[in-house]
Amino acid sequence: MKYQQAIITGASSGFGAAYARALAPECGRLILVARRGDKLQELAQELQAAHPGVEVLVQPCDLASAEARQALVSSLKALPVSGKTLLVNNAGLGDYGEFASASFARNHSMMQVNMQALVELCHAFIPLMKAQGGGIINIASLAADLPIPDFAIYAASKAFVASFSEALRLELAASRVPVIAVCPGPVHTGFGEVARRNGCSDGSAPFKKWFYTAIPTVVQGSLRALERGKARFYPSLKIRLAGLLVRNTPLPVLRFIMGMRPRKVTTTPSES
Ligand SMILES: NC(=O)c1ccc[n+]([C@@H]2O[C@H](COP(=O)([O-])OP(=O)(O)OC[C@H]3O[C@@H](n4cnc5c(N)ncnc54)[C@H](OP(=O)(O)O)[C@@H]3O)[C@@H](O)[C@H]2O)c1
Repeated sequence: MKYQQAIITGASSGFGAAYARALAPECGRLILVARRGDKLQELAQELQAAHPGVEVLVQPCDLASAEARQALVSSLKALPVSGKTLLVNNAGLGDYGEFASASFARNHSMMQVNMQALVELCHAFIPLMKAQGGGIINIASLAADLPIPDFAIYAASKAFVASFSEALRLELAASRVPVIAVCPGPVHTGFGEVARRNGCSDGSAPFKKWFYTAIPTVVQGSLRALERGKARFYPSLKIRLAGLLVRNTPLPVLRFIMGMRPRKVTTTPSES
């Protein structure tokens, strides 16, 4: 068994559910975290039927709430652990549209989930990982490398995740706790629908179909990359090349290109 337990946030959908399926054969205990308890329960039943040896715990939690995060950490810390812990900080959301007309409440939640919850969970479990082993997978994005108009806070939050993960990786190198920032480009999950604002018919990210990556490429590839001690994982050749191009383009040129990009102005802020 590779890990005694794996804590996966955002396990009710997309990458998170795929990480749970991929890790079930390799873990003693899976802890599934998200708001939609019914989806987590369905997944738990599926995993327990397919892998009778794994204990699956469902932890419904709104990671945007400080109180809920604190309760989650307390209940997870009370569990007995005698081996490696893998933390998959995957929960996240976006908000397509200009910042000026955005719902501040929604963007505040986005910052809490994309950054605050990720940091708090790392802080809560690193001492255990240093003592008993483990690893951290933080889901960033290709957007981490690029300031994106109409996706401003999201891209900035992912830049935070990538930078934080890089620094953490170096701090934890001596303890042999690997940390990886996963930087996918567009992938078909629930993400686009959640990021779409009310009144905007286009729920998809502004990318061509050929640019999309499959979920298993992200999930299986990042698990292998973590084991190899990589700092970042850009799934698929096209995303690796896109990341390389962005990181090696001078900022004034990037500013010019991003300024020419068609804007996705939505004046109706999202309610939730
Ligand atoms: N899909 C892409 O194109 C893409 C590209 C790059 C990076 N990413 C990143 O990949 C990660 C996973 O997203 P996905 O693509 O799999 O999208 P998804 O299918 O929408 O999944 C997002 C997950 O985050 C959870 N979540 C959202 N708000 C939450 C909250 N307040 N409290 C607890 N859980 C919350 C959702 O669960 P509940 O709704 O049940 O709470 C869901 O399980 C995100 O960090 C996203 O930024 C996605």
